[in-house]
Amino acid sequence: MQFIDLVTQKNRIRENLMQRIESIIDGGQYVMGPEMVEVEKRLADYVGTRHCLSCSSGTDALLIPLMAKGISPGDAVLTTPFTFVATAEVISLAGATPVFVDVLPGTFNIDPDKVGAAVAEARSKGLNPKALIPVDLFGLPAEYDRLEQVAAEHGLWILEDAAQGFGGTVGGRKAGSFGLVGATSFFPAKPLGCYGDGGAIFTDDDELVELMRSVRVHGGGEDRYNNVRIGLNGRFDTIQAAVILEKLTIFDEELDLRQKAADAYSARLKGRVEVPEVPEGYTSCWAQYSVLAASTDDRAKLMAALKEAGIPSAIYYPIPLHLQKAYENLGYKPGDFPITEDFSARVFALPMHPYLKEDEIEQICGVILGA
Ligand SMILES: Cc1ncc(COP(=O)(O)O)c(C=O)c1O
Repeated sequence: MQFIDLVTQKNRIRENLMQRIESIIDGGQYVMGPEMVEVEKRLADYVGTRHCLSCSSGTDALLIPLMAKGISPGDAVLTTPFTFVATAEVISLAGATPVFVDVLPGTFNIDPDKVGAAVAEARSKGLNPKALIPVDLFGLPAEYDRLEQVAAEHGLWILEDAAQGFGGTVGGRKAGSFGLVGATSFFPAKPLGCYGDGGAIFTDDDELVELMRSVRVHGGGEDRYNNVRIGLNGRFDTIQAAVILEKLTIFDEELDLRQKAADAYSARLKGRVEVPEVPEGYTSCWAQYSVLAASTDDRAKLMAALKEAGIPSAIYYPIPLHLQKAYENLGYKPGDFPITEDFSARVFALPMHPYLKEDEIEQICGVILGA
């Protein structure tokens, strides 16, 4: 059994995609070609923002806005310790200091009520709190109503990390559109993934988009050899844009299939493990279907039983960011973020993709319920 099945999907889009790829190869515009322009328009329409800039990865999609906004040494950027390392890494790459905020017990996402204390903590360390990066973990958008309020109170701007959230919604509004700017990843395993690395940035801000456009390609000014700021190589490959264009044609249908798989899991597993919570008015794109075992030992037992039955499972994330060696210098210690630490000790993810069959879900649930 596959943890993520990309083969069935590939078979659905292969014919049209191959035609597009052939025409790109013949056309010769391999980087930032016409398909990139087309995909940016389609993605902006899909998310509902004025602008979309595609780029080289989800990591660069987070880094580019930070650079464009001038985030630099002495600044603090708040985020959650329960995420993939890239969310915090970009803060460090910009020269600023990550300040962590624990997550909510229910949803795995950052707790808006704890932002104020983190702002005060940053100030007490002599840092200038500038921005907040909520993460739409496992596909569920963070609590943007409350986060936008809290951020405004503390003078922070929001960068939405929608790397896992693309396709999720709050009150019908799409992930990627929250805060000042949103970032997503097209890593192949993501719900909307390409066949290599890629990402995209979304904003309604006309000035910011031009700054980010410049940062994306080496801080270019009027032409490519006129460099007006420090930037990077954040360009998107044309063939990857074609992959996204083809996958977008079946994306909403795939989101429905993921929802059906999640519903089937939750109905069967509720009571044996803690199943993911989706608050009223929210939808998840189910980048992962993660559950909580009763304890670390219980998780080990369940994962061993799955492995024995030939079923893959994975832990996202076994070590919270504040306890990673790379972040030793920040001075955090065990116990600083109890909810995150508890989740890291008990969480594990089950196979999740649109083409998961009912009998496969039945088999997976049977193993967990029988262990
Ligand atoms: C929450 C989160 N942020 C950022 C990233 C970085 O995206 P990429 O791998 O495309 O650079 C990922 C990718 O796994 C992610 O899950």
